[in-house]
Amino acid sequence: MKKLIDQISDQVSAAFERAGFDPSLGRCAPSNRPDLCQYQCNGAMAGAKLYRTAPFLIAQKVADALTANPLFSKAEMVRPGFLNLNVSPTALAHLLTELEQDEARCGSEADAHPQTIIIDYGGPNVAKPLHVGHLRSAIIGESLKRIARFKGHTVIGDVHLGDWGLQIGQIITELKQRQPELPYFQEGNPGPFPAEPPFSIADLEEIYPAASRKSKEDASFKAAAQEATARLQEGHPGYRALWRHIINVSVSDLKSNYEKLDVSFDLWMGESDAQPFIPTMVARMKDDGFAHLSDGALVVDVAEEGDTREVPPCLILKSDGAAQYETTDLATIVQRQRDYRPDRIIYVVDKRQELHFVRVFRCAYKTGLLDPKRCSLEFVGFGTMNGKDGKPFKTREGGVLRLEYLLRDVTDAVFEKSRGNGELSEEELRQVSEKVGLAAIKYGDLSNQPSKDYVFDLGRFIAFEGNTGPYIMYTMVRIKSILKKVAETYPDAELTAILPPEGEKETNLYLTLLRFADAVDDAYEQNAPNRLCRYIYDLSNCLNQFYAERSILREEDPRRRSSYVRILQLVLRVLERSVDLLGFEAPERM
Ligand code: ARG
Repeated sequence: MKKLIDQISDQVSAAFERAGFDPSLGRCAPSNRPDLCQYQCNGAMAGAKLYRTAPFLIAQKVADALTANPLFSKAEMVRPGFLNLNVSPTALAHLLTELEQDEARCGSEADAHPQTIIIDYGGPNVAKPLHVGHLRSAIIGESLKRIARFKGHTVIGDVHLGDWGLQIGQIITELKQRQPELPYFQEGNPGPFPAEPPFSIADLEEIYPAASRKSKEDASFKAAAQEATARLQEGHPGYRALWRHIINVSVSDLKSNYEKLDVSFDLWMGESDAQPFIPTMVARMKDDGFAHLSDGALVVDVAEEGDTREVPPCLILKSDGAAQYETTDLATIVQRQRDYRPDRIIYVVDKRQELHFVRVFRCAYKTGLLDPKRCSLEFVGFGTMNGKDGKPFKTREGGVLRLEYLLRDVTDAVFEKSRGNGELSEEELRQVSEKVGLAAIKYGDLSNQPSKDYVFDLGRFIAFEGNTGPYIMYTMVRIKSILKKVAETYPDAELTAILPPEGEKETNLYLTLLRFADAVDDAYEQNAPNRLCRYIYDLSNCLNQFYAERSILREEDPRRRSSYVRILQLVLRVLERSVDLLGFEAPERM
């Protein structure tokens, strides 16, 4: 179904043409004075220069050409030359009937040119605990993935594990000190090695911080860890086997964490998977004259004229020949090109890494790894989730954020708050609290523009009033309960047509339902799930305001009541669609 704003623009453009003017002047927009009209067209103002006439003369002719148009109940010229438009109630009823039939898409058309999009998000580092940044990346990336998929694109979500860094060498070194008798440390042992890992996730959670502390305090430990990292990367069989164990143990823990967040990845690739692509890539960069030596390191200059800040060269190989974070990201681009030929690669990463990505993107284009016309590289940088003290958020336990603890804290808070004021059993309330808690966390995050820092305020996030996830959940559950009551009260009622809206609140509700497609497009085009959050907040408000002045249950006219029921079902459907695109879902009751 075509978007309402486009249907309106089509009609107005045709009217411009009939009145003898360029149809492209007929582009309309939602009114910025909703008290005066619903939509507006300012094309006559631009047309005035083109046709050297007063803008109001043009607008009047267009308004005249629209008088008999059934889409509008008002098409009015307003001096100096605006066109104010209202959609007619009858047309609104037809449009909502069409929307209702468009069950799967709720009025949002898929893109005519489907693309292949890779979204690089999550970005956890194996063996290291997840931190708030990883949480944000998972929440935002998951939503972007769902939105793009809904628009009809082939979307591949890649977790891009940090599985190749110094942390592995640190763990190996620590383990070697603790258990030197393990077969992995017998020099010259080519394997095979035990299939069972010599540690559990709980062990790793203790080993890694200990190793990382030693690395900071003890220079010889650090040197040993670097040495172990280098040997691992060269292919030392015992270290490789240990590394595999570390990855396997961490990945199953990560998967269960992400599952609790309702986040899933199509690919569990990591930095290590890019390594085989490095030698050829580097050789090409050298042969083509892009890479040159600077203080012993191999670099590619990526500064550009007009840079307002210093953009240092992209570091390809350090003087000891070691590959860098940049190198790995570049080689990953090569691998992704080879395997998926994406049209876009979107990186959802902490905005403090922006300069890194600026350099990687420039380097990739400059050295011809990618053709900028065929594939766009996009950085969606997000801000920090802070605690009320303005510092990066910590859970009750303090220290680093543990996802389980965050989820538990929020679920507990929702549980305590709702206890005793409903008819749900403890057991059911637990499950409901988990859903509402997840909605609170995700909505609290996604309702902000990704690039902004925000404060994680538990009390505010779990409030049932205001711009919160639980408010949206509450609205959805409320609709379900009204619909249930109506069905119980009028078991034999037939569903009849959607009627034209009466009054301002109902008209607003109709118009807002028809804006779902715009919200999805905005969110998709701007990589901004906050647009969709704003939309469902508006829609929930419209519904609650409408409901405050109409009793559906006590409505005596069966045709009106039936129309209300269909509208409520539609609102629920659009909200369900939307929250699914944001990555959460409503409980049945709460
Ligand atoms: N592992 C990185 C970190 O924890 C994030 C990875 C982001 N993605 C990428 N392609 N560099 O900071």
